[in-house]
Amino acid sequence: MLSWEVIEEIKKTALNELENITSERDWVELKAKYLGKKGKLQDLLKMLPTVSQEERKSLGSQVNEVKDLLENLFSDKLQEIKLSLKKQKIFEKKVDITLPSKRYSRTGRVHPLNRVTSEILDIFSSLGFEVEEGPEIEEDYYNFEALNIPKEHPARDMQDTFYIDESRLLRTHTSPVQIRVMEKRQPPLMVVCPGKVYRRDSDVTHSPMFHQIEGFMVDKEVSFSHLKGVLTEFLQAFFGKEKNVRFRPSYFPFTEPSAEVDIECVVCEGKGCRVCKGSGWLEVLGCGMIHPYLFSVVGYDKSVYSGFAFGLGVERLTMLKYAIDDIRLFYEGNVSFLEQL
Ligand code: DAH
Repeated sequence: MLSWEVIEEIKKTALNELENITSERDWVELKAKYLGKKGKLQDLLKMLPTVSQEERKSLGSQVNEVKDLLENLFSDKLQEIKLSLKKQKIFEKKVDITLPSKRYSRTGRVHPLNRVTSEILDIFSSLGFEVEEGPEIEEDYYNFEALNIPKEHPARDMQDTFYIDESRLLRTHTSPVQIRVMEKRQPPLMVVCPGKVYRRDSDVTHSPMFHQIEGFMVDKEVSFSHLKGVLTEFLQAFFGKEKNVRFRPSYFPFTEPSAEVDIECVVCEGKGCRVCKGSGWLEVLGCGMIHPYLFSVVGYDKSVYSGFAFGLGVERLTMLKYAIDDIRLFYEGNVSFLEQL
């Protein structure tokens, strides 16, 4: 029988149950139970025709009040549930700043060309050589003229030059440092000069910028056998004691006599392969006895002093030692390549 007490009882249990739910799923179920089409409030409304005319009006409006109240409270409850869910998620995601961090394994390291340069310089310094450097923007005079390469000399065609203006250029080799050092110092000298050089050249074995190391020795009675001894010592320290070395006659304007030095092929060990083009030998550097013209330029007495000089390419030596076939790999900043060496 519909009565004030029955309505109040349903309201009380509804409020009680609503208070205790915590999930959206329970909320949906509970809402259907009370406010749904087949819910308890609907049942109450259906019972209205069974009560007397006088009571029907007041009980009807009482049921509607409870319905409105519950509708408001249900919608508040849904907000509450959603909010607390959000708070819980944030809490779960909270970062524990006291945990130890992950180790970062990809730390920086020395570039292979710098490492090989240091390795080469170390070998020469163990033989008594000092290190000197010269400018990359060089005067025509030091790069060519003083090295016995006059204006019309065909040797200027050997190197395609980046000129800055009439008299200045990007040095095409490190040989000008020989002149600069001899100009300011007196023999005895044993010096190596590392640095960047520039040529108009670009393919798998040539780069417009690359690295050379020049070396020279000047003293009384320096002979070709000193040159052979020092370079053989260096090459065997760099490529391995067992490697054979050979000297071939060659030509450079700033040395007389001049030679090119070959090392037994690092790939086939002299048998002949694709890398050494079947010869069993790899050309690794140029050298010779310093031309007396250079001594006259810097004011040394050529009847007292003699010397030898050599020049090598750092990229070339690195490529041979580590079997790299494309020079551009050195400059691309590709970490997986750099990490391999
Ligand atoms: N400057 C030469 C070049 O860049 C390399 C060279 C050859 C340097 C013979 C020397 C030398 O000191 O004696 O090709």
